[in-house]
Amino acid sequence: MALLTGSNRINIAVFISGTGSNLNSLIKFSKLKKSPIIIKMIISNNYKAKGLQFANIYKIKKKVFDFKNTLSEKKVIYELKKNDIHFICLAGFMKILSRSFIKNFKGKIINIHPSLLPKYKGLNTYEKAIKNKDKYSGCTVHFVNSKLDSGKIINQKKVKINKFDTPETLAKRILIQEHKLYPAAIIKALSL
Ligand code: GAR
Repeated sequence: MALLTGSNRINIAVFISGTGSNLNSLIKFSKLKKSPIIIKMIISNNYKAKGLQFANIYKIKKKVFDFKNTLSEKKVIYELKKNDIHFICLAGFMKILSRSFIKNFKGKIINIHPSLLPKYKGLNTYEKAIKNKDKYSGCTVHFVNSKLDSGKIINQKKVKINKFDTPETLAKRILIQEHKLYPAAIIKALSL
């Protein structure tokens, strides 16, 4: 069922582990007049995550949990429900969520991944694409299910791999595309 009806906005939480450049782009997207989302919470498994600074800058509630066991996840679920969160965006969140966590937000968790899924699930996607002499890499936004990087694909963007690309140069170009792809994916996911 589409979450988006009429002009209402959806309360979302963004989960991060690191720099938070995707979070920053989603915050900017949330501030557009016709944006369908309100970012109500930023959640992290890493209290040193650089991206947590955006919580302070934009006055968004932030919480850190270790996500190490079911109890920790239960606390996250409690917090999300308490804050009326209806949709979760994983943005560089490097923890695998349990089956039971996902069940609590069935069809309402999406993730961005730096490869053209189903190719190169998991880590080191840039290295793998370069090593295999792929012509293209890119990024994918997909629904999260209990298998790693395997849920239904929402959208993708191809990025050409150049002859002299290193994992770092490729990552930089893909990230620029991620910042455009994620907002578009949210609009699509909310209207499905
Ligand atoms: C992004 O490239 C994102 O696709 C990737 O981590 C980076 C986070 O950057 N996510 C994954 O690898 C998840 N499997 P950011 O913190 O600057 O948004």
